[in-house]
Amino acid sequence: MDTARVRLTATTSGGGCSSKVSSADLATVLRDFPAQDDPDVIVGFATSDDAGVYRLNDELALVQTVDFFTPIVDDPYDFGRIAAANAISDVYAMGGTPRTALNITTFPIEELGHATLGRILAGGAAVAREAGVAILGGHTVKDDEPKYGMAVTGTVHPKHAITNAGARAGDVLVLTKPLGTGILANALKKGSIDEEQIAPAVRWMTTLNRAASLAMIAARVHAATDITGFGLLGHAFELARASGVRLRIVASKVPVYELARELIAVGIAPGGSRSNAREHEVFTTFEAGIPPDLRLLLSDAQTSGGLLIAVPPARLSALLGGLHQPDALAAVIGRVELGTGIAVDA
Ligand code: CO
Ligand code: CO
Ligand code: CO
Repeated sequence: MDTARVRLTATTSGGGCSSKVSSADLATVLRDFPAQDDPDVIVGFATSDDAGVYRLNDELALVQTVDFFTPIVDDPYDFGRIAAANAISDVYAMGGTPRTALNITTFPIEELGHATLGRILAGGAAVAREAGVAILGGHTVKDDEPKYGMAVTGTVHPKHAITNAGARAGDVLVLTKPLGTGILANALKKGSIDEEQIAPAVRWMTTLNRAASLAMIAARVHAATDITGFGLLGHAFELARASGVRLRIVASKVPVYELARELIAVGIAPGGSRSNAREHEVFTTFEAGIPPDLRLLLSDAQTSGGLLIAVPPARLSALLGGLHQPDALAAVIGRVELGTGIAVDA
């Protein structure tokens, strides 16, 4: 098939991180999964963090993560870049340095052809190179739907991993990319918007969280996570639960793509974000007067989203000074309190 004619998003049922199995379903499946008792496991799956951390010795720990998904844009090279930036992000979210990666691919090679697969892998390789990550190999399986991503290994000092469990009451919350990629990608798939209209989101989704990560390491922040398939509220809740705190988010301060807002207003939003929103109602208290459209944006499944960082007030200016466009926003979106769950103010 001619690569120029392939619309990758038309080949799949869901796109990007919105194709993740829900956290509720995962919790059900993992309920009877044996608990970890290896003393060198610093971060395991119990706290729903971005990546696992395993101590090799007193100076060195491995940071390991895996992420892959169906196409979120039609251009195979951009899809590869986005999938790689997204997979590597989980190492940055832990304050680690990404080192190596293995490609994970499923692909209908007869239908879509060699050239399209080649472009996806080339996009991934370009972003890996930018991150200083060596791709050591990979695995490709024939399948009806194309999927691509990476298993990424990084390193961190065992005492310096930035987990989602360190937030403390009084901390300030900072977000480093705008929300709305799930809504934009869904609109692209449906043909409601074109490639040019999604270009600003593609630029953010292909931007590494490296600059944001280096800034948060330098500012010695308390906690962080990256915002992906469970949306801002879903990942914020994981951080709140792991840290034993409540997060208070000011909806009007959260950066969003204006086009995503316009699309929701005319009823265009993916099922994954709607089901996220229903799950999030259980632990979120919304102040009266927050429109349903904005609530949906706060739950929108993100792909290669920004970092959500909890920083003590005394080090906020140091953090903000290290965050600047085009690599990172410096949006102060709320604070950490005593309590549980998420509170959203207008
Ligand atoms: Co993550
Ligand atoms: Co991930
Ligand atoms: Co983390």
